[in-house]
This record gives sequence, structure tokens and C-alpha cells, in this order.
Amino acid sequence: MSQKLAGKVVIVTGASKGIGASIALHFAAEGATVVVNYSSSKEGAERVVGQIKQAGGKAAAVQADMSKPKEIQRLFAETHKLFGKLDILVNNAGFYTISPIEELTPENYYAMFDLNVLGLLLASQEAVKRFGTNGGNIINISSVVSTSSGEANMSLYCASKGAVDAFTRSLARELGPRRIRVNSINPGLIETEGIRATGFLEDEKALAELQKLTCLAPGYGQPKDVAQAAVFLASEDSSWITGESLYVSGGYY
Ligand SMILES: NC(=O)c1ccc[n+]([C@@H]2O[C@H](COP(=O)([O-])OP(=O)(O)OC[C@H]3O[C@@H](n4cnc5c(N)ncnc54)[C@H](OP(=O)(O)O)[C@@H]3O)[C@@H](O)[C@H]2O)c1
Repeated sequence: MSQKLAGKVVIVTGASKGIGASIALHFAAEGATVVVNYSSSKEGAERVVGQIKQAGGKAAAVQADMSKPKEIQRLFAETHKLFGKLDILVNNAGFYTISPIEELTPENYYAMFDLNVLGLLLASQEAVKRFGTNGGNIINISSVVSTSSGEANMSLYCASKGAVDAFTRSLARELGPRRIRVNSINPGLIETEGIRATGFLEDEKALAELQKLTCLAPGYGQPKDVAQAAVFLASEDSSWITGESLYVSGGYY
């Protein structure tokens, strides 16, 4: 069976665990060479690379804090040194916090926007410089919260993902003439290490509430659900799709 991403070189940011790790594994299974970026979880990133290599794929772990401009530049320079080109960027690194408005500080804002928005913008800038003459592909991991009817105590995170959607549409228009596609995936709740650490999955009342708003049981998805959508957006199966937000949420609204 032919592989959908054979010969492609891909950077997946924040791929040591969670959604990013699953995207890295799925891309490699489709023949892509994958740069598994991480910030502090070297062991997690090396585990993902090990799994890819064991399955006969090609990958390398590259550390870079995606909220730091110099480290972002280094990630792209190292990717070039390792694999000589770049075809696809998945901007996945991001974080979420729950905090009422009274407790938010400018420092919280800078931390959120430096990673979720500025990091994504600078990584896209570096990718655009390196995409070849056949174009390229950027996939931004946004969230349902960018457009959902409102998530209390998450104003900062929601604002950051709203920015990701707007950035996606603007950049798609700007880069379309160069055959560079830009789309976002907007997941609903996905069971990841990050979500497990919030304790949300142990909160039966919150889970029942979530299930009421979500068409499919059990109200939350798995990293592979997002990864499969990312393969679609990265491949020729979606060749005429750009500037879109693909909701992967089990029907959350
Ligand atoms: N899970 C959900 O329910 C959900 C829903 C909608 C959208 N999302 C979005 O999906 C993305 C991934 O979420 P997740 O739940 O998979 O998160 P996660 O389980 O917490 O994993 C986060 C990943 O990002 C990396 N990371 C964190 N800070 C970084 C930085 N400064 N530079 C580079 N990498 C960094 C982490 O690596 P280190 O451990 O090395 O720091 C890790 O690999 C985020 O953008 C999130 O907003 C998640």
C-alpha cells in the first residue's frame, strides 16, 4: 500500500507526548521523516523516536523551547542540517491554564501568548523560508475553545486559540499563491498527559456536563483522533483545502 507522506520531512513541535507524539507516530507510519521537537521531556521524545525507528521509520529528537525565538531558529537550522529540506510543519506545542480573570497577570499573558501564538508565528516564518518550490504545508493545532460558546476561567487560553484561527486564515490567503497550504485542527477534549494532569478526567460532574454537549460518547477523544486528521491535512487527500479549521471534537457544540 502506498504511503501518504513518503519522502516528506516534517517538524512536529511539542511531540514528546500527547497529541504531538501521536501525530509524529502517524506521520512516520505514512513514510514521513519526522523531527520530534520537545522542550524538557528528552526521555519522552527519545521514546517516540525509538518507536518510529523500530517500525522502520526515520526520526530525530530536537530540543527547542518554542516560546524562545533563538531556539526556534536553531530547531529549523538543525532540521536542515539533519535532513536537508522541510515540507510540513505541525505547530502543536502549546499549553492551557484554568484561571479566573481576577488572578490573571501580565506574566500569565506573556507565557501563554509567547508559546501559543508568537512561537507558532515564528516557526511558520522559519518554515516558509525553507519550503521548496513545490510549496509546503502548515497545520496549526488550535482548539474548539476558539469559537465555542464560552469556557469560563479560560479567557487567556481561548484568546490565544482565537488568534491561532485568525492567523491560519490570514496566512492561508498570503501563502496560497506559493502553493503553501495553512489549516488548523480544532480538537475538543483529548485524553493526553497534559489533560490527565489537570484532574479533569476524574471530575465526574464536569465529564457528565461535557458528554451532554458532545454528540459522541464518551465526550472526549484520543490523540490518534487528532493525528488521523493531521495526516489528512498533510497529504494530497486535502490538496484543495486551505484556510480551514477542522473540528475534531466528537461533535462538541
Ligand atoms: N488535550 C486537549 O484536550 C486539547 C484540546 C484542544 C487543543 N489542544 C492543543 O493541543 C496541543 C497539545 O496538547 P496536549 O494535550 O497534547 O499537551 P501535553 O500532553 O501537555 O503535551 C504538550 C507537549 O508540548 C510540549 N511543550 C510544552 N511547552 C513547550 C515549549 N515551550 N516548547 C516546545 N514544546 C513544548 C511538551 O514537551 P515537554 O514535555 O518537553 O515540555 C509536550 O510534548 C496544545 O497546543 C493544546 O492547546 C489540546
